[in-house]
Amino acid sequence: MSIIKINEVHKMYKLGKTEVSALRGINLEIKKSEFMGIIGPSGSGKTTLLNIVGCIDIPTSGKVFIDNIETTNMSDDQLTQLRRLHLGFIFQSFNLIPVLSAFENVELPLITIGKNKSEREKIVIEMLNKVGIEEFKNHKPDELSGGQRQRVAIARALVTNPAIVLADEPTANLDTNTGNKIIEIMKHMNETLHTTFIISTHDPRLLSFIDRKIFLEDGKIVKEETK
Ligand SMILES: Nc1ncnc2c1ncn2[C@@H]1O[C@H](COP(=O)(O)OP(=O)(O)OP(=O)(O)O)[C@@H](O)[C@H]1O
Ligand SMILES: [Mg+2]
Repeated sequence: MSIIKINEVHKMYKLGKTEVSALRGINLEIKKSEFMGIIGPSGSGKTTLLNIVGCIDIPTSGKVFIDNIETTNMSDDQLTQLRRLHLGFIFQSFNLIPVLSAFENVELPLITIGKNKSEREKIVIEMLNKVGIEEFKNHKPDELSGGQRQRVAIARALVTNPAIVLADEPTANLDTNTGNKIIEIMKHMNETLHTTFIISTHDPRLLSFIDRKIFLEDGKIVKEETK
C-alpha cells in the first residue's frame, strides 16, 4: 500500500500577468519506508512538489492522498494536525524562528504535540547531540553558521519521529563529516522506524543511499530509476 499518492497534480503560480507552470501533471506513488530522491535542475519544481506533498501548498488541480486519505479535501485544522503528527520538514531556507534558541526551535514541535517538559528536555538534548550542536543550544539562529542552522532545522524535523520526512537539499550547507553524520541519522531512522523519506538533493554522497530517484524537468517527471 502506498503512503503517498499523487494524481495528475498541476501547480500554477500567478505573478502579475504572467503565469508560471511549476508542476505539469505529476503522478507518483510512494510506499512506506521508501528512501527516495527528487532530482532536477533549478526551477524544475522540486520544492513545489515537496510543499504539496507536505500540505504546505495546495495544487491548482489534481489530488494528493496520504495514507489513502485525500488531503486536498481537508480543512485547515485537519491539515495542521496531519502536519504536526505525521510530517517532518527540512526546508531549503531552514525557516527557523529567529527569536528562539536552537533548543527552543527543536522543542517547539514537541510542545505542539503535548509532550511534557521533562520528556521534551530529554528528547531535545538527545537530538541536538545526534546532529552535533548541543554546545550551541542557547544560540539563536543568527548566532549560528549556515551549516549549524541547517542542523537545527534537521533536528526540528526529526524530533517528533514523523512517519514522513520531506527534506529539501538537507546536506547542501554541510561539510563532508557533518553531511555524512546527517545521512547516517536519516538512513538509520529509515531502517529502524520505517520512516519514509522524500529528499530533494544534488549531493552524490546522499544520492548513493537513495533507493528510488525521480527526475523532474520543467514540472514533469521525465525519468525514474530504482536501485
Ligand atoms: N511563490 C511562487 N510564485 C511564483 N512562482 C513561483 C513560486 N514558487 C516557485 N515558483 C516558480 O515555480 C518554478 C518551480 O520552482 P521550485 O522552487 O519548485 O524549483 P526547484 O526545483 O525547487 O528549484 P531550486 O533547485 O532552485 O530550489 C520556478 O519557475 C519558480 O520560479
Ligand atoms: Mg527548491
